[in-house]
Amino acid sequence: MERITTPALAQKFINEQVAEMQAQIGNKKVLLALSGGVDSSVVAALLIKAVGKQLVCVHVNHGLLRKGEPEQVIKVFRDEMQANLVYVDATDRFLDKLAGVAEPEQKRKIIGGEFIRVFEEEARKLDGIEFLAQGTIYPDIIESDGAVKAHHNVGGLPEDLKFELVEPIKLLYKDEVRVVGKELGLPDGMVFRQPFPGPGLGVRCTGAITRDRLAAVRESDAILREEFAKNGLEGKVWQYFTIVPDIKSTGVKDGKRSWDWPVIIRAVNTRDAMTATVENVPFELMQHITARIVAEVPGVNRVLYDFTPKPTGTIEWE
Ligand code: XMP
Repeated sequence: MERITTPALAQKFINEQVAEMQAQIGNKKVLLALSGGVDSSVVAALLIKAVGKQLVCVHVNHGLLRKGEPEQVIKVFRDEMQANLVYVDATDRFLDKLAGVAEPEQKRKIIGGEFIRVFEEEARKLDGIEFLAQGTIYPDIIESDGAVKAHHNVGGLPEDLKFELVEPIKLLYKDEVRVVGKELGLPDGMVFRQPFPGPGLGVRCTGAITRDRLAAVRESDAILREEFAKNGLEGKVWQYFTIVPDIKSTGVKDGKRSWDWPVIIRAVNTRDAMTATVENVPFELMQHITARIVAEVPGVNRVLYDFTPKPTGTIEWE
């Protein structure tokens, strides 16, 4: 297959997929778990073009999304593309289940399992759905040797909820998905988004998640992203984010002793995420970001930079 590298090739792909999906789906209904990531967003935009309101998108907010993400999904898909969008704020459900759980794999299991349950409940409320759309892409198929990766699908749904799959981008690589997304008119912030793990900010709030420390992760991440965007590092650095570990140290603020968390900044470059190098962020910019984080994020008194390549450090901290 010819690699999709130009708007013209993307348009050709879009036309072909729209026709194919219309033939497959007819006048039936399709369900899609829409995370707001590039893959599911492109699938949603393709399906809206093909079958309009026969598509039902479900956006589950597990409370571990980055600042502004659920709002962007609602704005782009419900307000601008007039999609049939069900928004589920399941924050309390997830955070209650995660309370006191410190072990990383256990946290991932809870987040993944609860996600399926919330999605299942929404699916059961809807009548006459026969198809399930998924943002599976080609590397998902190769990497998982046939079985689709856990975060990319809602595999694990109970037997009585079996749908026929619609997977329009399953032969595309990520760079091709982005060209198609751009041609579909999705915003750059969505199309060129850095990778974001399924368990979200949950693995960046290390150990047992608390709402106040999670808020510190979300706010510091928003400041980092804003400053990287302003200073030309967005789209240049492969992945960047903050971590707030479950430790405290002494500090001083407004003449008073404080006992607060550190924020750790991670900014790495890689081709395939198997190995990674650390971005050489200008020192002045780091000082500016540090000043903003300690001034604007409650409960934080220090900012650290993680200088560790992978190996020996993984990209995430959990
Ligand atoms: P590590 O930390 O293993 O991360 O060096 C490599 C890449 O994978 C992402 N990552 C995940 N993505 N679910 C995901 O969907 C996960 O549980 C998960 N853990 C790590 C990480 O963000 C990086 O891009």
